[in-house]
Amino acid sequence: MDGVSKTYGSRSVLDGVSTVIAPGETVALIGPSGGGKSTLLRCITGLARFDAGQITVGSHRIEARGPASQYDGVRRMFGMIFQDFQLFPHFTALENVIEAPVRVRGQPAAEARERGLRLLERVGLAERANYYPRELSGGQKQRVAIARALAMEPRGLLCDEITSALDPELKAEVLDVLTDLKQEGLTLIVVTHEIHFARRAADRILLLADGRIAEEGPPETVLGSPTSDRARKFLRTVMA
Ligand SMILES: Nc1ncnc2c1ncn2[C@@H]1O[C@H](COP(=O)(O)OP(=O)(O)O)[C@@H](O)[C@H]1O
Ligand SMILES: [Mg+2]
Repeated sequence: MDGVSKTYGSRSVLDGVSTVIAPGETVALIGPSGGGKSTLLRCITGLARFDAGQITVGSHRIEARGPASQYDGVRRMFGMIFQDFQLFPHFTALENVIEAPVRVRGQPAAEARERGLRLLERVGLAERANYYPRELSGGQKQRVAIARALAMEPRGLLCDEITSALDPELKAEVLDVLTDLKQEGLTLIVVTHEIHFARRAADRILLLADGRIAEEGPPETVLGSPTSDRARKFLRTVMA
């Protein structure tokens, strides 16, 4: 990302965000509410557009105010997962996972089902394949959402507070899946309030406040000896 800036009306939401994320890196994106974390993820996949700067994802270049089609390739590289799961309520776990491969990619149903079952197994839900979302816990729903994102064979996942609605025990099962995916080499950009997870699993922490990167570096540096007042203030509140 190079100088990515965005305003809503007269309000600056992202103010010249520049950083480089390496393939396979796990980045924890932390910071105060309203600091621009969700907007930054949304700008990467085209759910929000930005006004200045550019984002390069692999060989794909996204220009500010460029055509919608410039996001096509990027969307194939990243799955995005949200706090509220966004599963189809009238589809079973397996049907949720195979919907996009079948509909978007034209994968034959039998092959998609077989792959879908393997993905559900990978997130520890093989025996829940035929359950509907309403029959699953929040943690299980979120793991279905992860399996669904993986079904499109992305290079990385963008996760926006995906454990915020979950009880502590269920948080742990979702964060464990992310840790496995990191080990498998996926690039992960994870908006999170789980400072322990960030410390343990992230290669780097980006602290975004008021639309700017207030602090950036390895977890032990950002959490242990932050240099900016803004970062110190935020970290005092979350680590208290
Ligand atoms: N669609 C929108 N229209 C207007 N303002 C928005 C919109 N989305 C986000 N904002 C504003 O942008 C700022 C950053 O929001 P957001 O990226 O959601 O922050 P975070 O995810 O860090 O809490 C906030 O002030 C928010 O109110
Ligand atoms: Mg947010």
